[in-house]
Amino acid sequence: MDRSLSLEFVRVVEAAALNSARLIGRGKKDEADGLAVDAMRQMFDTVNITGTVVIGEGEIDEAPMLYIGEKVGRGGEVVDIAVDPIEGTNLIAKGQNGAIAVLAIAPKGCLLHAPDMYMQKLCVGPRAKGVIDLDASVTENLTRVAEKMERSIDDITVVMLDRERHYEIMKECRQAGARIRLITDGDVNPAMECCFEGSGVHMVIGTGGAPEGVLAAAALKCAGGDMQARLLPENEEQIARCQAMGITDVNKVLTLDDLVGGDDAIFAATAITPGNILNGIRTFNGGMRTHSVVMRYKTGTTRFVDTIHNLDKKLKNLKAK
Ligand code: FBP
Repeated sequence: MDRSLSLEFVRVVEAAALNSARLIGRGKKDEADGLAVDAMRQMFDTVNITGTVVIGEGEIDEAPMLYIGEKVGRGGEVVDIAVDPIEGTNLIAKGQNGAIAVLAIAPKGCLLHAPDMYMQKLCVGPRAKGVIDLDASVTENLTRVAEKMERSIDDITVVMLDRERHYEIMKECRQAGARIRLITDGDVNPAMECCFEGSGVHMVIGTGGAPEGVLAAAALKCAGGDMQARLLPENEEQIARCQAMGITDVNKVLTLDDLVGGDDAIFAATAITPGNILNGIRTFNGGMRTHSVVMRYKTGTTRFVDTIHNLDKKLKNLKAK
């Protein structure tokens, strides 16, 4: 993929974040999501790609825009796209930390077409690559990760969604001596964060959305981290959906390459509310400031983009069009 696309994709996630930011803390998660979707969809039309949304806002009958199968872009390289215009809609509604606008792009056929169901996930950053095993116990994984990172388990911080289904994992982590950080929503952001020293996040574990799992995998693949996952269909219909999407063995442990295949991928995210690596959106008279990350697998380059948006000029330009 053309490297200049990276900056184009930053514009796409910036637009989603900027448009939804006015609803931070307003208790309107669906409206905020709608604003982010609108802006992301419009901005895609300015990018030189022939893109197909493979992970998006839902099936065609559920979502008017960015639905699975929708074509986006104004023509160019043929790519598959995973989007989550707001990852953490509850976070934005409640004004809590960790909401991001996020997307991943890869050559056609390289992103797992994960259906909207749960996925078991285990993510670590580059310093713990190559030692995780989804079928091993939590204690075994913590022991291996600690050893690889040359630190003790009590210096490992594990992030997981604060859900009843995770009580056993929480108990085991604590017994093994690890620190736990419970989050109410948004498990893509911590997966991205565990790629960066200083984020204070070393492992993300537990069950969350499968589409979010593919976005997390794109970040980890680009940054050199590691992930294993397993789809968790809950009924015959969900099994059939996996199969319709080309996933024949639904119990298979999925590796990073199963989730995001091929030799190129781009991951981009803009923070809406603050995170451990990215600053949340800041607003001032006439402008807004965004903080984004964009990573490319092929070159291993990570860029942080700190942007000041002059809203007065943007509005004037829009009126002049
Ligand atoms: P939104 O779709 O509202 O942004 O929620 C995202 C999320 O918190 C994901 O980050 C996570 O993977 C999933 O929902 C968890 O699902 P559940 O709330 O059903 O446990």
